[in-house]
Amino acid sequence: MRIDIITVLPELLKSPFDASILKRAIEAGLVEVYFHNLRDFATGGYKAIDDTQFGGGAGMVMLIEPIDKCISKLQAERNYDDIIYMTPDGEQLNQGIANHLSLKENIIILCGHYKGVDQRVRDKFITKEISIGDYVLSGGELGAAVLCDAVIRLIPGVLGNETSALTDSFQDGLLAPPIYTRPREYKGMKVPEVLFSGNFPKIEKWREEQAFKRTQERRPDLLDE
Ligand code: ADE
Repeated sequence: MRIDIITVLPELLKSPFDASILKRAIEAGLVEVYFHNLRDFATGGYKAIDDTQFGGGAGMVMLIEPIDKCISKLQAERNYDDIIYMTPDGEQLNQGIANHLSLKENIIILCGHYKGVDQRVRDKFITKEISIGDYVLSGGELGAAVLCDAVIRLIPGVLGNETSALTDSFQDGLLAPPIYTRPREYKGMKVPEVLFSGNFPKIEKWREEQAFKRTQERRPDLLDE
């Protein structure tokens, strides 16, 4: 998979890709991530990438021209499955969207800034608009990092233990059950006996029950879906 991220703040985005699972995925060649500084596509003496709104109103709007130049250059080099715009009014990111995107070959992620991009960018180029939650961030960069993390860990081969993404919360529509490790007892707090039974069907059944109970308590909305 190849991910091209268009941003005015590449430095804000780079560090999550330089640690842990994302770094290993890149080093293993399972994903390529490229950062494109929108400023490099700006024209004119001031290298402007934004301007005031037509019709008046507070906040700057990102210009279509530098975005067009950057996206067109990338599209001339390869085909893209999706061009995603990070925006608080997009579709809310969930595990289903992450699963879907993890199967794509090439995607572009455009990070919004200021008030956002000129609507014509959205009309002409964008195929998917994604929000990471009902709150407004200063820009799309942190959202893009969240999206990339959620997607990259699902690419086959990225996680050492292939089953571990399959047992994540949300993968089967439920939250994950409680988990334990050593010691067996800590300051009087005991690990549930069933986990030492060696009876794997029974352990699996216990986990399913716990996952259901936790989902019912914390996220009953997931059970309605
Ligand atoms: N940009 C600003 N706020 C955002 C959000 N909640 N999700 C994605 N991109 C954003």
